[in-house]
Amino acid sequence: MGACPADMPTPLAAVILAAGQGTRMKSDRPKVLHEVAGIPLVGHPIRLALGLGADSTVVVVGHKADDVKAALDARFPAQLRYEIQSQQLGTGHAVQEGMKSLPTFEGRVLILYGDVPLLREETVKQLITTMDEGRHALVAVTMVLDDPTGYGRIVRDAAGKVQGVVEHKDATPAQREIKEGNAGIYLVDSTFLRSALAKLDNKNAQGEYYLTDIVAAAAKDSRGASTVIVSDPVEVMGANDRTQLAELAEALRKRTNRRHMIEGVTIVDPATTAIGPDVTIGRDTIIEAGVHLRGKTKIGSGVTIDAYTIITDCTVADRAQIKSHSVLDEASVGPGAIIGPFARLRPGAEVMDDAHVGNFVELKKTKLGKGSKANHLAYLGDSIIGEGANVGAGTITCNYDGYGKYLTVIGDGVFVGSNSTLVAPIEIGKNAYVAAGSVLTEKVGAEGLAFGRARQVEKPGRATPLREEAKAKAAELKKRK
Ligand code: UD1
Ligand code: MG
Repeated sequence: MGACPADMPTPLAAVILAAGQGTRMKSDRPKVLHEVAGIPLVGHPIRLALGLGADSTVVVVGHKADDVKAALDARFPAQLRYEIQSQQLGTGHAVQEGMKSLPTFEGRVLILYGDVPLLREETVKQLITTMDEGRHALVAVTMVLDDPTGYGRIVRDAAGKVQGVVEHKDATPAQREIKEGNAGIYLVDSTFLRSALAKLDNKNAQGEYYLTDIVAAAAKDSRGASTVIVSDPVEVMGANDRTQLAELAEALRKRTNRRHMIEGVTIVDPATTAIGPDVTIGRDTIIEAGVHLRGKTKIGSGVTIDAYTIITDCTVADRAQIKSHSVLDEASVGPGAIIGPFARLRPGAEVMDDAHVGNFVELKKTKLGKGSKANHLAYLGDSIIGEGANVGAGTITCNYDGYGKYLTVIGDGVFVGSNSTLVAPIEIGKNAYVAAGSVLTEKVGAEGLAFGRARQVEKPGRATPLREEAKAKAAELKKRK
């Protein structure tokens, strides 16, 4: 790395091992596609590598390789390279395969596991700093565990210098007493890595090509090996079964919630609040119990989100209020708007400034203009609604005739009376008034008053005679029985 000018960062590549089956998940789905915080396990190290600006990110796939590739291509289009490890001959073999994608790469190679989702960027930066300071060939992540059974152990000399890693199955009883375990995550100089991988063999208890043997090789190299010890082992824990999957999800949730609280967001009940890693939230926003914020949701400042609301891939502007039990998907909510309780915003719903969407109101591909209100029991789909309009309870836009979808346009200041049926395509002009209970199939002009219902008829004094007739009829029926 001395070849790089001081002001040029050393290139970084990542190799992510994701070929294993994960038998203990007891699943038809490859282990690395099981999700933590709405992101597949392997998506977490990928995001880490991409976030660090890796020049290349190689995923080594094997078990159900096509499924894994398809899922990752959908999520990280054109950002990854793949190598297939058709037989899982060990972690060393997996990295040998992965390096085939980096034949001319020079710099540092970050080796990550596809089933370890919580490794922090800060820890990788520590690996980089440690490598630079000691000019090491390799730096490994380690952790101290009360019970390191199953893990490779870090063997050090009397001076504390790393000598190598011995796998649990190959370890002597004395070595099994070592509490420092190998996390399996390494930062390695590419030139050293290539030469060390070329020398691996499988003469060990498991008959596998152990990647861990490169640690001993680095220790023998003039530059030596070093470690970064993580203080919280959860960072390097893998998910082997579904209980561990849930534990890791919980740990990540806590970490994310904490980050937002530190940044000025009130989270009333962190234990029941789930916020995805890509969600952003402004200051002084208040989040009540049971709220889920998912995907690429962006929440402004001073927003209140009441209990049991689920928001996915939405933008919610400053000061908006989302009341309880609302479900929002791919929608946008303007500043000061009020949504819910029990509101449903589906993809393409656009609620403008200070507008209100009340209980049991569903919006789909619909713009509700500034200050407009749809407060109760309505379906508004494929609609453009102007400013200051009032959409009455029970209003339905009939946007679909079983084949095509059609547009409803409602002008500024329109009043749509309760229980109206607007058969699209239709346009209601500015400031028009739609009588309650109307079925409208034709355009209403601006300022117009439209009735689309039978006229009311009254027959004075007919109520009592009608009752008498009904009574007599019932008595006659009873007699005949
Ligand atoms: C490995 C380390 C061990 C360390 C432990 C930490 C070796 C030899 N040992 O052990 O020192 O304490 O990780 O968890 O490296 N994989 C492949 N292809 C393979 C083998 C594995 O892609 O041929 C992937 C697995 O899917 C998994 C990761 O590599 O994501 C680690 O493999 P695993 O078998 O769990 O590692 P261990 O043998 O437990
Ligand atoms: Mg193994």
